Amino acid sequence: MTILVTGGAGYIGSHTCLALLEQGYDVVAVDNFCNSSPESLRRVEELTGKKVPLYELDVRDEAALKAVFARHDISCVIHFAGLKAVGESVQLPLNYYENNLLSTMTLLRVMDGAGVKNIIFSSSATVYSTENTMPLTETGRLGCSNPYGWTKFMCEEIITDWVKAKADWSAVLLRYFNPVGAHPSGRMGEAPNGIPNNLMPFITQTACGVRKELVIFGDDYPTPDGTCVRDYIHVMDLAEGHVAAIEYAAKHKGTEVFNLGTGTGYSVLDMVKAFEEVNHLSLPHRIGPRRAGDIAQCYANPSKSRELLHWTAKRTLKDMCADAWHWQQQNPRGYDA
Ligand code: NAD
Ligand code: UD1
Repeated sequence: MTILVTGGAGYIGSHTCLALLEQGYDVVAVDNFCNSSPESLRRVEELTGKKVPLYELDVRDEAALKAVFARHDISCVIHFAGLKAVGESVQLPLNYYENNLLSTMTLLRVMDGAGVKNIIFSSSATVYSTENTMPLTETGRLGCSNPYGWTKFMCEEIITDWVKAKADWSAVLLRYFNPVGAHPSGRMGEAPNGIPNNLMPFITQTACGVRKELVIFGDDYPTPDGTCVRDYIHVMDLAEGHVAAIEYAAKHKGTEVFNLGTGTGYSVLDMVKAFEEVNHLSLPHRIGPRRAGDIAQCYANPSKSRELLHWTAKRTLKDMCADAWHWQQQNPRGYDA
């Protein structure tokens, strides 16, 4: 069975390609490399000993995408391709709406023409309104606070409407919490461009001296230690969640939405302490002001995924910290080195 992975060279896409190959699936990847390099998939091939046909194209390019579907016998698509930086989406909203919405719509049309009826979509916990109480269940209120979040919200709507109109289609919308960590080999991991916005890459870059110190964004939140709480999930657990979603989509019609999180929240200070303890180092850090747009707590209720996808996150906070550091140490400049 062949799975087409859009955005396959990216952080989550490349780890998912590896998980799929390990489960015996064949994988075809497409990516325009606007936020990645082909090296990630070269390493997938190195680790698995299997080939991943990789096409450099923009998912909005209907003709190029059609040619890939014509060449391979694709059973299901995992759609990761998209822009994901919240701050940038506020500065350049049209880029986000154009890229994320048009790529999804083009993909659905091309899938339709090729008779491919199963899609797994990368959504985000960011689609939940800040008014919900924790932990978040899939029936929670929706609402976003930035253009990136709205693109995820709108793509969920577009896919849901499309599948409603097509009786024999299947869509699985996966709302990720906070993906962190790397493949335990240290050969694959997260390679952000420029100064990282997210906590874990900032921690690893600080630990190896690329950044001077970690600034913790606020310690006056209504949480046990005053710093924000998030549901960090190991990227390999997340990748395996996609394998489970493919199996679910093959057996069920219609659209279903699932949280992919661990169900456990850790504070920023918990993360700093865990990283220091696991990796036997001291991380320069200080408390700074709050970051605009942050919420105090965000963590999942993952019961629906456990019950229907038969998936649960297995890796610990220790694994996340050890694997992220292993990757950073071996690849201080990401895939470029
Ligand atoms: P990433 O940037 O590493 O991967 C996205 C990939 O898509 C990149 O390789 C990029 O080059 C490619 N891409 C973007 N637009 C494209 C287009 N029009 N055509 C072809 N390729 C294109 O990001 P990631 O962290 O791996 O995230 C994957 C998906 O998961 C994204 O849709 C993101 O919004 C979503 N997501 C990520 C997180 C997270 O924290 N990383 C959280 C929730 C949801
Ligand atoms: C961010 C995105 C969200 C996305 C999620 C997962 C924003 C506003 N939200 O959420 O849409 O789904 O990533 O990729 O960007 N922190 C520090 N210092 C730092 C960096 C982060 O203290 O240098 C803190 C943050 O305040 C937050 C926590 O660490 O409390 C996690 O931050 P981050 O990794 O950016 O994820 P989110 O804020 O959850």
